[in-house]
Amino acid sequence: MEKREFLLWKVGLVFLALIDGSSATLSPSGVNYEVVALMSIKTDLNDPYNVLENWDANSVDPCSWRMITCSQDGYVSALGLPSGLSGRLSPGIGNLTNLQSVLLQNNDISGPIPAVIGTLEKLHTLDLSNNKFIGGIPSSLGDLKNLNYLRLNNNSLSGPIPDSLSNVKGLTLVDLSFNNLSGSVPKISARTFKIVGNPSICGQSSKNNCSVVYPEPLSFPPDTVKDHSESGGKSHIAVAFGTSFGAAFLIVIVIGLLVWWRYRRNQQIFFDVNGNFSITLFVYR
Ligand SMILES: *[C@@H]1O[C@H](CO)[C@@H](O)[C@H](O)[C@H]1NC(C)=O
Ligand SMILES: *[C@@H]1O[C@H](CO)[C@@H](O)[C@H](O)[C@H]1NC(C)=O
Ligand SMILES: *[C@@H]1O[C@H](CO)[C@@H](O)[C@H](O)[C@H]1NC(C)=O
Ligand SMILES: *[C@@H]1O[C@H](CO)[C@@H](O)[C@H](O)[C@H]1NC(C)=O
Repeated sequence: MEKREFLLWKVGLVFLALIDGSSATLSPSGVNYEVVALMSIKTDLNDPYNVLENWDANSVDPCSWRMITCSQDGYVSALGLPSGLSGRLSPGIGNLTNLQSVLLQNNDISGPIPAVIGTLEKLHTLDLSNNKFIGGIPSSLGDLKNLNYLRLNNNSLSGPIPDSLSNVKGLTLVDLSFNNLSGSVPKISARTFKIVGNPSICGQSSKNNCSVVYPEPLSFPPDTVKDHSESGGKSHIAVAFGTSFGAAFLIVIVIGLLVWWRYRRNQQIFFDVNGNFSITLFVYR
């Protein structure tokens, strides 16, 4: 291969890699692992009102699904479901590693809170309030360094409040009220921390003062998830825009290189041989 061709070929590869950014979530076998995880969540929920109707295993792009928001680079970043769902929360949620926000409040979801939620490093908002979750609060939630809002109130959670929660520094709101939690209360550094309504913590003989609520709750949920499908679309436009910007930038570089090459080699017939640049690029793409 001629040197110039080789260079173009390499540039073409970079170009392809940029254009193909959306395949980043594909496993080697071509399966989108986010689609697999979301389908497992759908499977474990009961959805009598068909709000998850367009969650389709054959769809390559979960960003267009209802209630899903994607980040600019095309990963699922928020999951917010409307009310009316029951069933369980699948541990498959742990495979949505780019989740920042999970809003499942005011449903009838039962079963345990999957401990794998504690592996979602980017999670800053977790609202499972007003459901029927049972079992303990996973101590893995203390691994969520970016956790900001944690609402587990109005469930049937039991057992102790994990000490690990005192490791999370940036907490704004922790609401564990109206459960059946017990044991000693760890020192949780949240601006607002509510535990009222847990009989064995706040009972008459308890020395805890459950009615203390530091500054009034801030507006919640934060406006991370407004209209899911719409913002999903927007972020896709943003990806497309970013991609075409990247492509345009590459084309400029390629043209610059070719002009430089022509100048250096002083090849007068260069353009005639190659036709025009866009065709050359297209072929090598
Ligand atoms: C989660 O990912 C693991 C490993 O990649 C895989 O074995 C498992 O089937 C996935 N589970 C779901 C529900 O997506
Ligand atoms: C939680 O439960 C308490 C007591 O049953 C109730 O007063 C409160 O309105 C509930 N909160 C929500 C958000 O449903
Ligand atoms: C709350 O937990 C205690 C044990 O800690 C148990 O005896 C009681 O039945 C539970 N209450 C509810 C409403 O689940
Ligand atoms: C609990 O806190 C409230 C509000 O700060 C206060 O009015 C009340 O006296 C306290 N009760 C106990 C038992 O400390």
